[in-house]
Amino acid sequence: MIKLKKLTKIYKDKVAVDNLSLEIQPGVVTGFLGPNGAGKSTTMRMILNLTNPTRGEVLIDDERYNNLRHPISKIGALIDANTVNPKLTARQHLQLIATASGISTSRVDEMLQKTGIEKVKDKQIEQFSLGMQQRLGIAAALLGDPETIILDEPFNGLDVDGIKWLRKLTKDLAKKGKAVLISSHLMSEVQAIAERIIVLAQGKLIADMTIEEMSRRSLSMYLRIRSENNLFLKTLLEKSGAHIQSANINTLSVRDVKMEKVGLIAKENNIAIFELTKVQPSLEKLFTELTVGKVDYSSEDNSSKREGVER
Ligand SMILES: Nc1ncnc2c1ncn2[C@@H]1O[C@H](COP(=O)(O)OP(=O)(O)O)[C@@H](O)[C@H]1O
Ligand SMILES: [Mg+2]
Repeated sequence: MIKLKKLTKIYKDKVAVDNLSLEIQPGVVTGFLGPNGAGKSTTMRMILNLTNPTRGEVLIDDERYNNLRHPISKIGALIDANTVNPKLTARQHLQLIATASGISTSRVDEMLQKTGIEKVKDKQIEQFSLGMQQRLGIAAALLGDPETIILDEPFNGLDVDGIKWLRKLTKDLAKKGKAVLISSHLMSEVQAIAERIIVLAQGKLIADMTIEEMSRRSLSMYLRIRSENNLFLKTLLEKSGAHIQSANINTLSVRDVKMEKVGLIAKENNIAIFELTKVQPSLEKLFTELTVGKVDYSSEDNSSKREGVER
């Protein structure tokens, strides 16, 4: 388990990561979301010990990265700054990493196959498309069969097949008990795979919850109703304390009332109901709301994380 404790990174006059405390759970795909510049890559780099925190720390199974005996079996990562010699072939690149870490050649071949780049394994990396480079990066990340896999914007450059492939791969890894942390600036990319979502904006944690919880808490959730007499039903619902979002001859959109209550009110007043639907907002919409700072969904015990940082 990876724990971030009050992790902070300040560049000169820029707070890139602001007092971030969270845990990355095993057996789960966690989506690490936030607009560009939110601090996702900086956080990942600090987890991987590639950037020193200004304050706070990262613990990996209660150890600092520097004290890990065999880091490659603890954490594997795909990040922007993965250094690759473009003159090497894909296989040579992986073989180098494997040799340095005491990993067998058979594992190299297994990963080439798993990431779908076996056919191009003897091509120089400089001839690789961005999508192929991403696959190679993922192969490298998985070489040590690590407990935690960190992927920074892995969907960039992947084609439709690549996206499908990566979704399945990450889900399978989580099923095997791995902790998978995937960053993205697009909700839609991780929505289908992530069980949990962490949202950063301007370096601060603004949400850390399951996808389910996130949609449940949405302010935009409402009931869509079609009935025999929408306008009469609207008046009745208003009287009962419901909040009418919109109303016309065809449909009523209503908040702050249970479906059952709508049904009962309609029955008592002899109004036939044609449709009664709970409408969930798209997570993309919710994500936008969160990151423009209109809404704050973090739990109470995270409140300290939103306080300003001294510069
Ligand atoms: N090496 C650096 N020097 C100065 N500022 C940096 C450096 N790395 C990142 N930043 C700044 O920190 C903020 C967070 O960047 P980053 O972690 O890359 O965000 P994200 O990955 O969410 O897009 C940005 O404002 C970025 O300009
Ligand atoms: Mg980034």
